Formats: sequence, structure tokens, C-alpha cells
Amino acid sequence: MDPDTLTRRIVKPLVFLLCLLPLAWVAAGILQWPGADLGANPVEKVQDTLGIWGLRFLLLTLAVTPVRELLGWPRLLAFRRMLGLFAFTCIALHFLWYLFVDQAFDWRQLLVDIAKRPYVTVGFAALALLVPLAWTSTNRAMRRMGRRWQKLHRLVYPAVVLGCVHFWWQVKADVREPLMYAAIAAALLGWRLHRHWRRRAAAPRRSGPAPGPGRERDAGQDQEPARRSAPSRRLVQQPPAQ
Ligand code: HEM
Repeated sequence: MDPDTLTRRIVKPLVFLLCLLPLAWVAAGILQWPGADLGANPVEKVQDTLGIWGLRFLLLTLAVTPVRELLGWPRLLAFRRMLGLFAFTCIALHFLWYLFVDQAFDWRQLLVDIAKRPYVTVGFAALALLVPLAWTSTNRAMRRMGRRWQKLHRLVYPAVVLGCVHFWWQVKADVREPLMYAAIAAALLGWRLHRHWRRRAAAPRRSGPAPGPGRERDAGQDQEPARRSAPSRRLVQQPPAQ
């Protein structure tokens, strides 16, 4: 079996099952299966578990490109969209849990919270940024939108920053955990910024109007993409941004 097929047929389904575990644990806890104990405050535990896994998946999604480039593992790209969609699923469920269970579907209370509690405002803004990304995560949207797709998917950067601020602001005393997540986010975003500057500095000054194909990567995006050779085509049909 060639490495691309192995990735697609074996490794990717295994990673998918692994990513399902936190959601399965939450579901088992809600259904009160033995071994899945949600503790003394199950409503808060579900809320927190979905939030923290949303943030973890978001950071894992952002880690794909640096790890891929630094370690020279091009096939990692095959996992990025899946990780991004797991992030969105957890965060959307985190929000829905808050709305339906915590607030008993009280829209007015939700609006009051968004207006009055800064950490909810920021969390909501982060979710709003992620919705168009999930919506346009299909190959079809990618093809239809072309370069606009990459620009749109840069929204993941402010979304992860807002996600970290949201986490930080609700912690009362011990900020070590949100600090750790914020440091990881800063490292991942800092790496992109550094790469962007390095490429700008390395690029020859343009005198003509049209950028050549090499310049297209300068936006700090991962354009792996559909311009590659045939064997990698399936892997390459992944969202380029993030
Ligand atoms: C990108 C979007 C978001 C991310 C990454 C995120 C992440 C998190 C994290 C990491 C926590 C803390 C978990 C812990 O203490 O272990 C949390 C808690 C919380 N989030 Fe979010 N969140 C997001 C969006 C939202 C939205 C849209 C809402 C509601 C409108 C919301 C409401 C809450 C609430 C109420 C808590 C506190 C629960 C408690 O008191 O324990 N979050 N979130």
C-alpha cells in the first residue's frame, strides 16, 4: 500500500475515531454510562469539556502547518480540515449546550449575557468567525471561491485569539491553564508571522504588475494545493488556509 493510500484508508479513519473520543465521553456522561462520571456539576462539566476540546482542536488545526513544514511531513495536511471541523463541532455544541441547557433556551438572557459579560461576548465573536469557515469547508466551496477562500480562512487567527481571551477572562484566580493555551496560540501565530516576514524579505522586489506563482504563498497561507502533481492530489484537496 502506498503512503497516500495508507494515510487515507487507515491513519485518517483512526485519527477520526480518536478525535471522537471526547465527544463520546461527554455523550456517555450525559447518558450516565458507568465509568463516565461528570462529577458534582454535570452541566458545567459538559460545558467546560466541550469548550476546552474546541480550543484544543483549534490549536491542533493551527499546528498542522508548522509541524508539517518543520518535520517535513506533507501528509499531515490530510488531517487539517478534519481537525478544524472537530473544533467547530465542539465549539458549536459548547454554545448550544449553553443556550439550551444552561440558559434553558432563553434567547433574551443569552443576549443580555453577550452584552454584559465580556467573556461571553468574546466567545460569541469567536464562534461567529468560525461559522463561515465551517460553511465553506467543502472542496466545492474551495474551488468556487478561489483565492477569496484563503483570505476568508484567515479568520481562524482572530478566532483562536478570541478563544484564548474568552478562556482567560472567565478564570478567577489560577491563570496557568489559559496562559498555557495562550502561549501555544502565540507560538503558532508567531511562527506564521515570522514565515511571512521571511518570505517577504526573500522575495525579489517586484517591478512588474503580476506576481508569479511562487509569490502566491507569501500571504502566510498554506497553499498546498491543487497545483501539485497527480499522486498527491487527494491529500492536496484540503483547505489551504490556517
Ligand atoms: C471559539 C469559541 C469558543 C471557545 C474556544 C471556547 C472555549 C472555552 C473554554 C476553553 C472554556 C473553559 C473550559 C474550562 O474551564 O475547562 C469555556 C467556558 C465557557 N464558555 Fe466558551 N468557548 C467558545 C465560545 C463560547 C460561546 C459562543 C459561549 C456562549 C455564548 C461560551 C460560553 C462559555 C461559558 C458560559 C463557559 C463557562 C462555563 C463554566 O462556568 O464553567 N463559549 N469556553
